[in-house]
Amino acid sequence: MAKKLTTQTGQPWADNQHSQTAGPRGPVLMQDYDLIEKLAHFDRERIPERVVHAKGAGAKGEFVLENDMSKYTKADIFNEAGKKTPLIMRFSQVAGEKGYPDTVRDVRGFSVKFYTQEGNYDIVGNNTPVFFVNDPLKFPDFIHSQKRDPRTNRRTNEMQWDFWAHSPESLHQVTYLMGDRGLPASYREMNGYGSHTFKWVNKDGEQFWIKYHLISDQGVKNMTNEAADKAAAQNPDYLQDDLFDAIEKNNFPSWEMYVQIIPYEEGLNYKWDIFDVTKTVSHKDYPLIKVGKLTLNQNPSNNFTDVEEDAFSPANLVPGIEASPDKLLQGRLFSYKDTQRYRLGANFEELPINRPVTEVHNYERDGYMKLNNQGGEVNYEPNAFDGPKEDHAASVAPDQLQGETGNQPYNYKVDYTTQAGDLYRLYSKEEQDRLIETIKDGLGSFDNDEIKTLEIKQMYDADKEYGTRVANALGLNIDSILATNN
Ligand code: HEM
Repeated sequence: MAKKLTTQTGQPWADNQHSQTAGPRGPVLMQDYDLIEKLAHFDRERIPERVVHAKGAGAKGEFVLENDMSKYTKADIFNEAGKKTPLIMRFSQVAGEKGYPDTVRDVRGFSVKFYTQEGNYDIVGNNTPVFFVNDPLKFPDFIHSQKRDPRTNRRTNEMQWDFWAHSPESLHQVTYLMGDRGLPASYREMNGYGSHTFKWVNKDGEQFWIKYHLISDQGVKNMTNEAADKAAAQNPDYLQDDLFDAIEKNNFPSWEMYVQIIPYEEGLNYKWDIFDVTKTVSHKDYPLIKVGKLTLNQNPSNNFTDVEEDAFSPANLVPGIEASPDKLLQGRLFSYKDTQRYRLGANFEELPINRPVTEVHNYERDGYMKLNNQGGEVNYEPNAFDGPKEDHAASVAPDQLQGETGNQPYNYKVDYTTQAGDLYRLYSKEEQDRLIETIKDGLGSFDNDEIKTLEIKQMYDADKEYGTRVANALGLNIDSILATNN
């Protein structure tokens, strides 16, 4: 039997098809509370979309620990093989708005929230192991250049390439983005990376630098520019629908989690700056070590409460897993919860999808939409009333710091071209051809010579063939470009 229709305050709702009026031809009566409530609630349905990664899709599942990692971290989630931890994952594209086509070339977000026995732990990564910028001060400008022109409201290649050409640290990520990985065939068929270096600490206080790799059991598959254009025209929600339909058919996607583990001192003196997110760490130097499997086996029961209200943050860490000094990561530790207070409200962590499975006890109270206000418990510390006590075992492990304060550029083994060139050389001949074609379409779509010159010079520095081929594809002479003073 159908349920009884009610107002939000539970009164029976008499008529949901006809407003109350003075006579059949109107006007409408102020006393029609049902009408007023319905319109007023509808008027408030939209919340701000995520300032980046607005378009995405999510699903629930679990993580099974396959190898005990207690030698490297005391984090409960990674101790005792066989342990299962519920999780939610969200995949996204960076620049487009909420209604944007899924298959426009972009880096894809790859977020995981683990509901561990020590509180929530989030990995908020991408489908590429590096990033465009390495200083948080540059992030808002970077995003402005990828979003819409303030006057024309268009996204333009000129703005995007302008930022990249003037930010040489972006070349490695740009070479990923313009390569095949910029167009994943599905969210299921892409890898995820924590990208930054993080710190693991074991129960004896030993520290390790680690990097996460989430390798797709479905393999990595990408689509061509033509296939992506077609998908965008036929179904703007192409990647979202693929994920939902696969899970609905019990075709559960999974990823194997691996880590690279770098001994603490070695990491500080490694041949690359491991705290610069534009760099990768060689698998030969630090091979992938298997940790466990993430499987998605349940679609959201409601997209708004399970996905839109989801609040992932790199600051959601648990004992045994810590941030590294990576400057970009440090900026992120602030930005996510800040935007979520604005996007979802001060008490966003109490929304069902963000609630930990552990109990919450502290001295924070009140605010809009407070649900768990901790009853009559004492709300200040120190106190004589047996209020919640600190757990000193959760203290962060110490790092020795040196140097002076100030606005400082990176200064340890700064080199933004070698790894970009390595990536170019790693691509097959066919992928290199597609890369050049895609870059030609972007750089060739506007006239600004300064932008083209700067970018081609960086590509040439990375690999002479890379720069020369892009220049040729654009009908430009590489020697003339190299001779300019830009
Ligand atoms: C300083 C640099 C960065 C800043 C300030 C920043 C800021 C943000 C903000 C404000 C959001 C929206 C969060 C929300 O509304 O819930 C977001 C989402 C996201 N960011 Fe970043 N971000 C930065 C760098 C990165 C990097 C390096 C990665 C990947 C390695 C990344 C991956 C993501 C992902 C995957 C999401 C979507 C989370 C979700 O699915 O809800 N971001 N970022």
